[in-house]
Amino acid sequence: MKRIVSLIGALLFVTVSSIGAASADKLTYYCSAEEDWCQLMARSFEDATGIDVNMTRKSSGETFAQIRAESSNPKGDVWWGGTGDPHLQAAEEDLTEVYVSPMRDQLHPWAISQAESADNKTIGIYSGALGYGYNTDLLAANNLPEPACWKDLLKPEYKGHVQMANPNSSGTAYTTLASMVQLFGEDEGFEFMKALHKNINQYTKSGSAPIKAAGRGESTIGIVFMHDAVKQAVNGFPIKVVAPCEGTGYEIGSMSIIKGARNLEEAKKFYDWALSAEAQNLALQVNSFQIMSNVDAMSSDSAPDMSMIKLIDYDFLKYGSSAERKRLLQKWDEEVSTLPQ
Ligand code: G6P
Repeated sequence: MKRIVSLIGALLFVTVSSIGAASADKLTYYCSAEEDWCQLMARSFEDATGIDVNMTRKSSGETFAQIRAESSNPKGDVWWGGTGDPHLQAAEEDLTEVYVSPMRDQLHPWAISQAESADNKTIGIYSGALGYGYNTDLLAANNLPEPACWKDLLKPEYKGHVQMANPNSSGTAYTTLASMVQLFGEDEGFEFMKALHKNINQYTKSGSAPIKAAGRGESTIGIVFMHDAVKQAVNGFPIKVVAPCEGTGYEIGSMSIIKGARNLEEAKKFYDWALSAEAQNLALQVNSFQIMSNVDAMSSDSAPDMSMIKLIDYDFLKYGSSAERKRLLQKWDEEVSTLPQ
């Protein structure tokens, strides 16, 4: 009897202490950058801190929708990566937490202004310009001309050769839609999206999928962030990267702590660590060629040279606002995606 009691006691001790350890040192991390980079960040943070990380990768718009759906019972702690617009919308809808990191003075001004425009509920972690890439072998095999501008993509000979993501799920594709509206004006921007629709072979869920498909030779042209196209080229695929001649939009990839985070202290630790030059340099190990927000982070010679790209003055406040993002997505759903091809 004594032995049984002490056995139960020992079991109880093990169970209680393991529950204690698990709830003290874990982090639920939602990631909207590339899967390999998300994984590397998770494992490196575990190594640096001993905190167990449970990571889920979903596109920016999808993660935003998940955080909103979970808001009465939040499951995630920190959201890292993905385009800034849905992070700004989450801030406006009070789905994310105010946090001023002690690391902030190590950041570029564009990363800090992202925070300031959202009452410190988000912050910039990287930036990158939008463009497209194409498979040079497929282009030649199909006798297609080399595109150099956005409007080149509307040529009838590219029918079935262009792929982009769906702007509802993907931040890349929302950046595309918002950039066309800012570059050409709303009416002409939507005319562009409608004409482009005729040439689209598939709207993917994830933003970088179209250039991965082009790399594999399954599609010719992918509208993506230029650094995603560079990654395919550096990985050995026959991809040429284009900075469109009319100019283009860009993203400020962001990070936010989820309101009601169950592991708030761990989320803050991750946030501070993710802003360090050391953590940001991990990007280069997985050929992620964004410009990082820490002024001391390294950049690669392969990265797109932002000073050579004609960038629009992207209005993050307007296009990251809840009303405008909803309005543009609804208009795209109703007026573009339903058109016959
Ligand atoms: C890729 C890019 C990131 C971007 C992200 C957005 O991972 O490398 O710079 O933030 O796409 O993903 P999404 O799937 O939402 O377009």
